[in-house]
Amino acid sequence: MKSRIRLNRDFTVGNTDNRLFGSFIEHIGRAVYGGIYGPDHESADDMGFRRDVLKLVKKLNVPIVRYPGGNFVSGYYWEDGTGEKSKRPRRAEPAWKSIETNEVGIDEFQEWAKRAGSEVMMAVNLGTRGPEDAKNLVEYCNFPGGTYYSDLRRKNGFETPFGIKTWCLGNEMDGPWQMGAKTADEYGRIACEAAKLMKWIDPSIELVACGSSGPAMPTFGEWEAAVLKHTYEYVDYISLHEYFGNASGDTASYLGCSLDMDGFIKSVISVCDYVKTVKRSSKTMYLSFDEWNVWYHSRGKDRTIAPWQIAPPILEDIYTFEDALVVGCLLITLLKHCDRVKIACLAQLVNVIAPIMTETGGRAWAQTIFWPFMHASAMGRGKVLSPAVECDTYDSEKRKGIPYVEAIGVFNAEAETLTVFAVNRSLTDDIEFEADLTDFAGYVPAGHTVLYHDDLKAVNTADEPENVIPSETDDTRFECTRAVSILKKHSWNVIRFKKA
Ligand code: AHR
Repeated sequence: MKSRIRLNRDFTVGNTDNRLFGSFIEHIGRAVYGGIYGPDHESADDMGFRRDVLKLVKKLNVPIVRYPGGNFVSGYYWEDGTGEKSKRPRRAEPAWKSIETNEVGIDEFQEWAKRAGSEVMMAVNLGTRGPEDAKNLVEYCNFPGGTYYSDLRRKNGFETPFGIKTWCLGNEMDGPWQMGAKTADEYGRIACEAAKLMKWIDPSIELVACGSSGPAMPTFGEWEAAVLKHTYEYVDYISLHEYFGNASGDTASYLGCSLDMDGFIKSVISVCDYVKTVKRSSKTMYLSFDEWNVWYHSRGKDRTIAPWQIAPPILEDIYTFEDALVVGCLLITLLKHCDRVKIACLAQLVNVIAPIMTETGGRAWAQTIFWPFMHASAMGRGKVLSPAVECDTYDSEKRKGIPYVEAIGVFNAEAETLTVFAVNRSLTDDIEFEADLTDFAGYVPAGHTVLYHDDLKAVNTADEPENVIPSETDDTRFECTRAVSILKKHSWNVIRFKKA
C-alpha cells in the first residue's frame, strides 16, 4: 500500500497554543497522594513532592495542568487546602467516595506546577458552591495584597500572587453524577455571574465554560447553545470531554475512534459559531478539550474497591500498545483543529488514567501512551500544515471509510524543523509513505522515530518499564523533493526534517 502527504507552508491550519499539550491532576485515587506527592518517598523534595515523578512529568513538557478536578471540584472547599497543614480538615469526599486529607491544596499544588515547569489551570466549584467562593479564590490566588484573601495567602507564606491565568467554571455540570448538577439555563446563569465577579477581581484571567460531558449526553448541542447564550460575552472557551475504549475488542474500529473526536470538535465549533451569529458578535469562541484519553481498562475492577479509603487505587488503567496508537491518532486530531482548540488536557497525568504510573513509596515508570504524548509535546508546536493525506481507507464493524494513515505536518520556523506525525492503522500491512517536500526546498530528513510492538496488547510495568518504547529507524529514502519512509503495520511514527 502507498500513501502520500503534501506539505505546503502556505496552506496551514494555524499556530499551536502551547496549552494544547496540557494535562490534568485531580484529587482522585493515587494521583496526588502516592502519585505526585509522597513525603516519605526516598526521592521526596522539601515539600514532599516525588522527584522521580517530577522527572517524568518534565519529559512530557506539560505547559498547563488542570486542577483540582474533575468531579472532585464540585464539592470542594478550596480553603481546606490552604494554611497550616495540621489544622486542615479531613473530609468524606462524595465524588469518588474517598477520604480527602487536604495535605495538598492550592498552596502546594501551584508550587508543584512551578517545579514541573507548568501553569495551573484552576477549576472552581460551581456545584455545591457558587460565584462568591469563586471570586474569593481568584482574590486568594491573584490579588497582590491588602485584602482579606490576598493577605491570607501572604500569611500562609506566599507573598507573590500565584498569577493563575486560566480558570474552569465548574466541571461537567450537565452530568447527573455531578454534585450540584444543573440544567443548561441554571448553569449558564451561575457561570455568567461567577465569570463577571472573577474577571472584576482579575480582568486578565481567561475562563472556560462547561460544555457537555461528552457527545453522547442527551442534551449535547442544546447544552452548548444555551450555556453560550448566557455566557458568550464573559467566557473565552467552551470545554469538551471525551474518553475512548476498546471494550468489545474490535481493534480495527477502535483505531478509528479519533474520527469521533474529529466529529465532536466540528459539532462544537458549529454551535459556537451559531451563537456568535445570533448574538451578532465579532468574538470567536475557542475550545478547551480539557479531558481526553483512553479510559476503560479499570472500570470493572473499580467496582470492587471499598469506599472511604485515602488514595484508593481507582481509575488505574494499564495502557496497551494499541492504546498508544489511539492516543497518537487523537493527538493528530487535536493538531488538525489547532485553530479552534487552544487548550487540551490529557486526563490525567499520574496513576489515574495516566501516562505515568507509580508504586506508592516505590518505583515510577512511563506507560505506553507516554511516548506519543511526549513526541507531540516536544515536536508538535508551531504551524500546523493543512492535512493533505492520500491513502486507502477501510471499513470496520462500527465505521466506514477509516483512512489507513492518520498524519499531520508541523513546521517550526524558528527551529527550522518540519515534523510529520503518522499512524499506520493497518493491522497487517506496512505502508509506503511519501512526504512531498516541494515547498520545503533545502529540508532534508533528520530522523524517524517509531513506536511499534508485535503484540497490540503489550504493556509497560514496574518490572518491565521498557517493553513498549520508541526506537529509531533509518528507512527514509530521500530524492530531491520527496522523502519515502515505511510506516510499519500498526505503528506510531515521527518523521523529522530540518534545514540542511
Ligand atoms: O477524569 C476522570 C473523571 O472523568 C473526571 O473527574 C470527570 O470530570 C470525568 O467524568
